[in-house]
Amino acid sequence: MSHIKILPALVINKIAAGEVIDRPAAVVKELIENSIDAMASKIDTYLEDGGRKMIRISDDGIGMDAEDLSLAFQSHATSKLLNADDLFAIHTLGFRGEALPSIGAVSRASIISRTKGSIQGAEIAIDGGVLGQIKDCGAPEGTQVEVGDLFFNVPVRKKFLRTIPTEMAYISEVLTRFALSYPAIHFTLMHNARTVFNLPPVRETAERIATFFGDEMRNSLIPVFLREEMFTLSGYIAPPFFDKANARMQFIFLNGRYIKDSAIFRAINESYHGKLMHKRYPIVFLFLQLDPSEVDVNVHPTKTEVRFRNTSTIYNYVLSALKEGLNKSAPKSSEVASFSQRPEMESAKAEDAGFVKRSLWKQFSLRKTDEIRDTKGDADIPSSFSGTSTSNLNADTPFHNREILPPLSERHKDVNTEELLSARKSETDSTAQTPETPDRTENTFSAEGVKKKKGIFSNPQCFYR
Ligand SMILES: Nc1ncnc2c1ncn2[C@@H]1O[C@H](COP(=O)(O)OP(=O)(O)O)[C@@H](O)[C@H]1O
Ligand SMILES: [Mg+2]
Repeated sequence: MSHIKILPALVINKIAAGEVIDRPAAVVKELIENSIDAMASKIDTYLEDGGRKMIRISDDGIGMDAEDLSLAFQSHATSKLLNADDLFAIHTLGFRGEALPSIGAVSRASIISRTKGSIQGAEIAIDGGVLGQIKDCGAPEGTQVEVGDLFFNVPVRKKFLRTIPTEMAYISEVLTRFALSYPAIHFTLMHNARTVFNLPPVRETAERIATFFGDEMRNSLIPVFLREEMFTLSGYIAPPFFDKANARMQFIFLNGRYIKDSAIFRAINESYHGKLMHKRYPIVFLFLQLDPSEVDVNVHPTKTEVRFRNTSTIYNYVLSALKEGLNKSAPKSSEVASFSQRPEMESAKAEDAGFVKRSLWKQFSLRKTDEIRDTKGDADIPSSFSGTSTSNLNADTPFHNREILPPLSERHKDVNTEELLSARKSETDSTAQTPETPDRTENTFSAEGVKKKKGIFSNPQCFYR
């Protein structure tokens, strides 16, 4: 008798889910990728309890008809690939046909969708991998995916989820990356009926950088640009005095996809060589366009790692573009602080409270405070995350909360200060290091603590290296 058995689809999907969906932020990432691939111009993310209870992503993209909808939760079902050759002609963020079945295997999820021009929409639900029937339903054009009870049938995974602020920090990082890479898309993020982000479309990435990291950062940025036959690099780099304790503010996007790549990290560090102290890292926002035939994006299920056909060429391009940018903007010698002056410079920066408070980039530093916060467990969840909001937006918010979000005329008011402050307060309460006052431009929660604790900086497979 054969000992080898072919696993049932349900088990296969649960195994695949283990690689693709490790926490609510991964669900948010995969669903937003799908909305971007569907050419959405507005993507709304609505969360309850840090995404553990509910994640709902609505878009105004091309939608799916009933036939497509019946396949969407099937394994390896995709509209983005036809054959193996297409793997080297990928123009979309997704292509593996794994995200929806993985999510459906470990949650209670549903999709409502309507294609442009059709008179009615369709709905399908999945419960722990068990697919329901397609039903007709009324719906706006576009797609809404709702994911409830994440990991209800994978208790081990559920146990590994962190506090709500920490999960929000991961989600916020995901949203930040999409917002930087797709400035023309209107993104919103709501948590427990409160608006966390409302980012209307903007012309320039620099405007999104200013929204997230402050005007001082934007005004100091050095533009970089390089065009070669199959490669274009554009973006911004910060002067060396904006250095960080880790490389987490090195945002690299390849063909619109946020990636982590060791060769590019090396090129960045090399270009700043001699300008930074040991173990300090520059801040960069780099947007690479490369012919898809020159890169393999099918390296890891999360699609954050890539393999270049010619790594050394890419390394050289990045190095020369950054060096040129840094040379052009080199400050006069009197403006350059020598290494011996650095401690004073650090403290001067710390004292410039206005600057520090307005600059989100501080959030991306490795701070002990985060670690302390995370070890305390859920007991320290700020009240604004507890789901007790009295706002008239709640879990019953109708499909497409974009109609309900108040239009904010000023981009810099697009952030829920209270929610941010609650997250920040939980950090500062632990250490009393930084006095906090309301700040309209800080809109990300730091997830550093988790990373440091788990030591995942050393894990090259990890999304947050
Ligand atoms: N928001 C959406 N709008 C339109 N179509 C979608 C959306 N989300 C998913 N789909 C369809 O469902 C398919 C399966 O999605 P997914 O499992 O994420 O795989 P992939 O994105 O790798 O193709 C996609 O190829 C796409 O055709
Ligand atoms: Mg996808």
